[in-house]
Amino acid sequence: MNSLLALRGFRPTWLSIAAVTAVAVLSFYLLYSPRLPTTPSTVVVTDPVNQILTDPTYVDVATKTTVELVNTDASLINDLAQYFIDYPLQPPYKEHFGELGQRSRVLRDWLTLADQVQDPTTKTLLSNATERLAVSLYPFLEKPNNQNASQGPVASLRASFEPGSAGIVIPTSDHTLRFASHLIGALRSVLNSTLPIQIVYAGDADLTPKNRAQLSQTVKTGPPLDFLDIRTVFDDTTLQLQSGGWAIKPFAALGSRFEKVILADADAVFLQPPEVLLDHDAFLRTGALLFHDRLLWKGAFRERHEWWESQIRQPSAALASSLVWTEKYAEEGDSGLVVVDKARVDVLVGLFHICWQNSYAVREEITYKITYGDKETWWFGMELAGARYEFSGHYGGIVGWPEVDEKGERKVCSFVIAHVDARDRLLWYNGSLLKNKGRSDMEDEYEVPVNWMIDAEWHKGAAKQDMSCMVGGELRNFTLSERGVMERSIELAKSLDAFLHPA
Ligand SMILES: *[C@@H]1O[C@H](CO)[C@@H](O)[C@H](O)[C@H]1NC(C)=O
Ligand SMILES: *[C@@H]1O[C@H](CO)[C@@H](O)[C@H](O)[C@H]1NC(C)=O
Ligand SMILES: *[C@@H]1O[C@H](CO)[C@@H](O)[C@H](O)[C@H]1NC(C)=O
Ligand SMILES: *[C@@H]1O[C@H](CO)[C@@H](O)[C@H](O)[C@H]1NC(C)=O
Ligand SMILES: *[C@@H]1O[C@H](CO)[C@@H](O)[C@H](O)[C@H]1NC(C)=O
Repeated sequence: MNSLLALRGFRPTWLSIAAVTAVAVLSFYLLYSPRLPTTPSTVVVTDPVNQILTDPTYVDVATKTTVELVNTDASLINDLAQYFIDYPLQPPYKEHFGELGQRSRVLRDWLTLADQVQDPTTKTLLSNATERLAVSLYPFLEKPNNQNASQGPVASLRASFEPGSAGIVIPTSDHTLRFASHLIGALRSVLNSTLPIQIVYAGDADLTPKNRAQLSQTVKTGPPLDFLDIRTVFDDTTLQLQSGGWAIKPFAALGSRFEKVILADADAVFLQPPEVLLDHDAFLRTGALLFHDRLLWKGAFRERHEWWESQIRQPSAALASSLVWTEKYAEEGDSGLVVVDKARVDVLVGLFHICWQNSYAVREEITYKITYGDKETWWFGMELAGARYEFSGHYGGIVGWPEVDEKGERKVCSFVIAHVDARDRLLWYNGSLLKNKGRSDMEDEYEVPVNWMIDAEWHKGAAKQDMSCMVGGELRNFTLSERGVMERSIELAKSLDAFLHPA
């Protein structure tokens, strides 16, 4: 009786293991099976084991075998898809992040195979299973109002990406309009970026038509801004993006027409044209470039670490270089800037997982409770879904102003976090061009930063309104051209303020 009960208790686990094993075997088989050649199999080849010489007459037999194998594969794939559909992941979600990642790897493998196979029967079979599995794992993929019902939601989403395109995506609401206009102005008129820019919002109540029109007028050169109401792409009932704050970010990246997406917070400040991100080694290698937060609070937030460790059963090589993972610092990601290539199937499916973590029920139950907003969902989703990704090589640094502490040590202080490019030159920082975005009594105060520091120790201000400092590293100066970019960006921001809110 006891053992029977134990067996029952373990059933889902065994089913999962069996399913995953079956998928692995199947994927291997489909990838290497002789019936997926791109050239007709009429070539005469020697069988290395039995020394049998195959010839064109052998093809008929092979074709016959193929048909039988397709039938076997078909039921295996359909059984697996049905299994995942019949046993959906139910709330509470906290312990399902890893399981969803594992199921997503099956989705990734089927999608990859469906893209590769030539045989139309196999292609249809895989595409059909892919669509059914995708919607069971990620219900938000279902189009609102059954748009394009002739095509599955994954196929139709992928078809909406413009092949080879790259662009900047900035999610913006009425509240961040001012910073979005500063950013767009600086990108186009100071840094001379020619990348197209898409503004993403969640309905008229999020970003009013009047504000959209004003934002359009701030663009004087380059391609006009385009606007995407995210609720025309994803069904908002399970997402609640209009009131979701950060939650819109991964959906904006996923729903954008750009294939390569540079996703930036409205309050991001650039020191180099964003084009350099598309040539960043890490992005070229993996198709997903992320930036680190500051190294803070070693050993704190134990529950968060225990949860991460409970969900990540097979840590990737990328995690091995994380000081948050290996040395238990508290904060890993600064998602103010993220670069993803949705043409890579692993990255695309990783993005599905990230979106799920930011969907309403999941973020309310766990994501936004145990971590801060969307910031940790990016690496976590890529990691769990088995996607390749890479962080920029340094934890967050600082740009600001010099100070000297009681011990005579020189430090750099401010309210923002700075990041460098692949060659360790300043690239961007968060928190807007304002001196201190967090204080309402400083909402018109700008000041050009003069120094920066990286790879040193943080002395964090007690509250968001308080200055933080970095100490113990090399005190670096802004170069003349970096200073020029800052001066011109601030000048432009002031004139945009006057345009948006005429006195
Ligand atoms: C998958 O195949 C089934 C059965 O042939 C069909 O009813 C269903 O519409 C197909 N689904 C998709 C997304 O192609
Ligand atoms: C429907 O799919 C077609 C073909 O992929 C595409 O051109 C069209 O824009 C889609 N329509 C919508 C509303 O998504
Ligand atoms: C942008 O173009 C202007 C005018 O051509 C030029 O003065 C400025 O140096 C350029 N900015 C950068 C960052 O190249
Ligand atoms: C910059 O990013 C960090 C980490 O995400 C955050 O804690 C901080 O509040 C941000 N600063 C501003 C001014 O928004
Ligand atoms: C940085 O600027 C200060 C003040 O202009 C100057 O004294 C110092 O030598 C500069 N440091 C470096 C490394 O160039």
